[in-house]
Amino acid sequence: MFDMNRYRYEYFYDMATVIEGVLPETLCDELASRAQVVIDEKGVDLVRHSGLGTDAVSDLGGDYHHHIFKGDDVRRCLPELYAVYHALVPLVSLVTHTDTVVSPYPLSDVNIKAYPPGGGTLGLHYDTNGITVLLFLTSNSEAPLRMQIERTHPSKNMPWIEHKKIYARKGALLVMQGRKVLHDSEPTVSEQKLSVVCNYYERHDTYRHEDFDNFVYYGAKPKWLSESSGQE
Ligand SMILES: [Fe+2]
Repeated sequence: MFDMNRYRYEYFYDMATVIEGVLPETLCDELASRAQVVIDEKGVDLVRHSGLGTDAVSDLGGDYHHHIFKGDDVRRCLPELYAVYHALVPLVSLVTHTDTVVSPYPLSDVNIKAYPPGGGTLGLHYDTNGITVLLFLTSNSEAPLRMQIERTHPSKNMPWIEHKKIYARKGALLVMQGRKVLHDSEPTVSEQKLSVVCNYYERHDTYRHEDFDNFVYYGAKPKWLSESSGQE
């Protein structure tokens, strides 16, 4: 039975939920091997920068090391995933209780992040889009998504942080409140990890930082920081 109440509960109170078996494993394998051909042919960019993030782009300045399929790369190389991205809107809307819409930003609407073995990672950050959905194409025993969930309770004097790790499982869909919870991807050791990143928004709020895509995709320093330090 599809337990919508459980997914909604986890999304609202644990900041993320995982729906297993959205894509069959055999399809994930096929998509992953086609993505690998593109990477081997150097058909997509390698994102590799460190310490560039700022509050201006909701980032704490960590390491970034992964191949990136931008929106047009996904449409060109793995168009099925663009179809999946659109087809998931009603499901995401039901889980999140929102008027979910696809992203108006074609560079970042649906991406693949391919973390290579030996240090593939993503720095600690908040997402800028309202609703974050990851579709995992690999199963991994390392390199989990790490979340820092802020907790409070009247019985405690101070708020505290609950740390949670979510390991990728082939074909599973993670739906997360990425604007509200700090998260990163623990560095890989010997495995490759492939995540399809589906960025959704709410119809009334499609805000995105002006500098964000240049930072994420090209490692360009956010504008206000460049101006204050006199660098381009
Ligand atoms: Fe994120």
